[in-house]
Amino acid sequence: MSVIKSTDKFVHRHNGINKAEDLQQMLDTIGVNSLDQLIDETVPANIRLEGSLDLPEGQSEFEYLQKLKQLASKNKVYDSYIGMGYYGTITPAPILRNLFENPGWYTQYTPYQAEIAQGRLESLLNFQTMVSDLTGLPIANASLLDEGTAAAEAMSMFYGQKNKRSKTNEFNEIFVDSNVFDQTLDIIMTRAIPLGINVVVGDMDTYQATEHTFAVVVQYPGKDGKAEVPMDFVSAMREKNIFVVACADLLSLTLLKEPGAWGANAVVGNTQRFGVPMGFGGPHAAYFATEEKYKRVIPGRIIGVSKDKDGNKALRMALQTREQHIRREKATSNICTAQALLANMAAMYGVYHGPEGLKAIANRIHATTVLLGNKLTTLGFELNNRTFFDTLSLNIDTSTLEKVRHLAEERGINFFYGASEIRISVDETCFEDRMSRVLDVFEQIANKSVDRVWDLESVDAIPADTKRTSDYMLHPVFNSYHTESGIMRYLKTLENRDLSLTHSMISLGSCTMKLNAASEMIPVSWPEFSTIHPFAPKDQVTGYHLIIDELSKALCEITGFTDCSLQPNSGAQGEYTGLMAIRQYHISRGEAHRNVAIIPSSAHGTNPASAVMAGMKVVVVACDERGNIDVEDLKAKADEHKENLSALMVTYPSTHGVFETSIREICDYIHASGGMVYMDGANMNAQVGLTNPALIGADVCHLNLHKTFAIPHGGGGPGMGPICVNDHLAPFLPKHVFIETGGEQGTSAVSAAPFGSASILLISYGYIKMLGAQGLVDATKIAILNANYIKARLEGEYSVLYTGDNGRAAHEMIIDLRPFKAFVSAEDVAKRLMDYGFHAPTLSFPVAGTIMIEPTESEDLAELDRFCDAFLQIKSEIDEIARGDVDGQDNVLANAPHCLSLVTADEWNQPYSRSKAAYPLDYIRAQKFWPTIRRVDNAQGDRNLICTCPPLESYMEE
Ligand SMILES: Cc1ncc(COP(=O)(O)O)c(C=O)c1O
Repeated sequence: MSVIKSTDKFVHRHNGINKAEDLQQMLDTIGVNSLDQLIDETVPANIRLEGSLDLPEGQSEFEYLQKLKQLASKNKVYDSYIGMGYYGTITPAPILRNLFENPGWYTQYTPYQAEIAQGRLESLLNFQTMVSDLTGLPIANASLLDEGTAAAEAMSMFYGQKNKRSKTNEFNEIFVDSNVFDQTLDIIMTRAIPLGINVVVGDMDTYQATEHTFAVVVQYPGKDGKAEVPMDFVSAMREKNIFVVACADLLSLTLLKEPGAWGANAVVGNTQRFGVPMGFGGPHAAYFATEEKYKRVIPGRIIGVSKDKDGNKALRMALQTREQHIRREKATSNICTAQALLANMAAMYGVYHGPEGLKAIANRIHATTVLLGNKLTTLGFELNNRTFFDTLSLNIDTSTLEKVRHLAEERGINFFYGASEIRISVDETCFEDRMSRVLDVFEQIANKSVDRVWDLESVDAIPADTKRTSDYMLHPVFNSYHTESGIMRYLKTLENRDLSLTHSMISLGSCTMKLNAASEMIPVSWPEFSTIHPFAPKDQVTGYHLIIDELSKALCEITGFTDCSLQPNSGAQGEYTGLMAIRQYHISRGEAHRNVAIIPSSAHGTNPASAVMAGMKVVVVACDERGNIDVEDLKAKADEHKENLSALMVTYPSTHGVFETSIREICDYIHASGGMVYMDGANMNAQVGLTNPALIGADVCHLNLHKTFAIPHGGGGPGMGPICVNDHLAPFLPKHVFIETGGEQGTSAVSAAPFGSASILLISYGYIKMLGAQGLVDATKIAILNANYIKARLEGEYSVLYTGDNGRAAHEMIIDLRPFKAFVSAEDVAKRLMDYGFHAPTLSFPVAGTIMIEPTESEDLAELDRFCDAFLQIKSEIDEIARGDVDGQDNVLANAPHCLSLVTADEWNQPYSRSKAAYPLDYIRAQKFWPTIRRVDNAQGDRNLICTCPPLESYMEE
């Protein structure tokens, strides 16, 4: 039978190397005869997969999108009034088009290189300012993963604070009011158990704090809609020095008294309804605001204001020594990837609407709720809550409830159904027609009709003591860009300051900045996927479930495991979830004492931080001079802790960029010592189709879908870190309070939504469907080829720190810059690369004074060559300093980067030419990217932390 097939293969769009002559040139440079020979010399024979992946062949982009449309049509897009932290919202079209769907924004990396990231740093500073203003607390971070985990982070932070001077952690009780969202409580429970925290759930009106209570958590407004300032309760707790955490709806704070003003020590929540679609659970940006004195322990990234070398205002990520990269097992949080892209969307929603626009939206929602409540009361229904912002709770008997459910679902409407309660949460998308359809349902039940007059102006129902009286968002940025031309140009101005994959390769070792194909991204905005509530009934989301099942199976096939949880929202959350599964496994076997995690010194900082969060003690194992795990040391440590060994955490290929040949021996030894092997899947891009974690000997691994499986980094998130597990651990996968998922003996939830940031799973699904079995393996081989090509071109001028037994790199390599340290620092090289139009590779991780290059398979030969040429030219610039031909302090490297204002200034005082500064190689003339500031002053920013938009006067000075 003949079949008409597309001639356009996705694999040729995704992989950069497709021409036979390019491949040959690269193989010649590396010194091998074939790609297969290179792979054989790179990946140890004892862990090679036999046969191919059992996955279908790749689909063309057109075919994939057509098939996906069919799956999308299986989701029923109902009007959602479910609430519980997720609401309908209107994404302003210019934000959708110019930010969310714009690779100039979504392919950016986390803004570690501040000089080429001023745009998103400004936007994230706007986010922090908006959150700080609305919550009434001075310090806010640049996003967390979701509201539930943000509340759990607050718990950990205050647990640490309260027990700072207590050797026995005597303050170990937290009270959670029963009006807190169930999914938040679920996560607090999960996180509390391994830390030994006792969670008490009850009614705040009757709670009696004990001498062990360290914090209380309240929801504002409550899940039943009640919107009252819990003044008496908060005062009583504060009097006893108990910390108060408020989980708050940010939009409601435009009308309601801000928690900072009534005594909350931290305010957390979600910014989803600031223009970010529900997406069946995410991604959206959670926020975290607190008092000044906790700035050194607040979880997540904070953007701060500093100065550049010329004293001009410069933004940067502040106080990085707080983060898990540095603090490792002493870290107070494992948050790494967060939700930067979504924080930017929410911030831009604030910028576009401004304080008046936000207040108008909130007023409309509130007034509509009031009138809806009146009409329902007229129809004879009883309201449980007398005060509210946007949510009504109806007291209803079970049989009427079922009738309402039936009639509502017939009309395409979802409410929240409790035991004898129906809740209706009104949102920004609720206009007359939708409200009318809601009333139709209740009219039919009541057998009466009610008027359809919506006189919103007449409504003023917020009690005076709950009303907000303070101003917010007065800064010019929130009061300047309210027209479409204005916001479009503001978005473009910021985008132009930032280097992204739209400019050049971003070769970040360990971070895998590969192509995020447009065909993978497009469906994320389809309403059949984006407007679905995470707790929608299962029979309405058949399309999503088919995709989730197929993706889970594909990830199991790729990892060699049997089951999968898609719940964790980042790699670090995956680590935590996997370790919790291991913990549960030991407990189920009566071995609760097994609590030691062995972690190599080269591991990413999140590994030890996650282990501590899972209640484990960290034992560090050394690496030998070749960068491999020191097997003798590992065996000694495993023997020493044999009785209590819980797990080994290992990254493979290692963070040193090497396929260690002893990996199987290592895993066997850990198993023989009673432990489990956790594999950090950050480097999965070197494994797919060639080997897999199960074959290597691991029991569980997480996959950073935002690395290997094509989800973009979004300037620091979103991400997804699902875990795959073997049979032993499958029963211990996390559950969720609202949806059936996870293993029979699993922990409670690790994320607010049952399938994490479900809408971006589509990206990884598309990646796998379009590449297919063969394309996936080809991608891995080309990733290894590209890395070894760079290695071959740079060797001689630079030394590669570690290689495998046959002298090959894996998919990444560490270049040692320490031999030049008398003349330049690794940072100088990173900054100089900006003048050549490149983002620096990973700096000083895992070895200080080095850079780690990972080109990925998506780069073509021309780009790889430009990158190598830049490196080689920089080496010749280092040589000039070493020979004494140029000044040791005043040279192109020490002064890098050279921003536009410096190079075009009337005065030029550098001892080299402007063209040497800005155009050191010819290719740059055709595609110059200009850093917008000179080198940022890190110390100044940390000494004087400013993490909200500077006041108006500072702009006037400028
Ligand atoms: C080796 C390694 N492990 C873990 C992580 C943490 O992943 P995430 O940032 O998604 O939390 C990273 C992130 O860069 C990493 O490189």
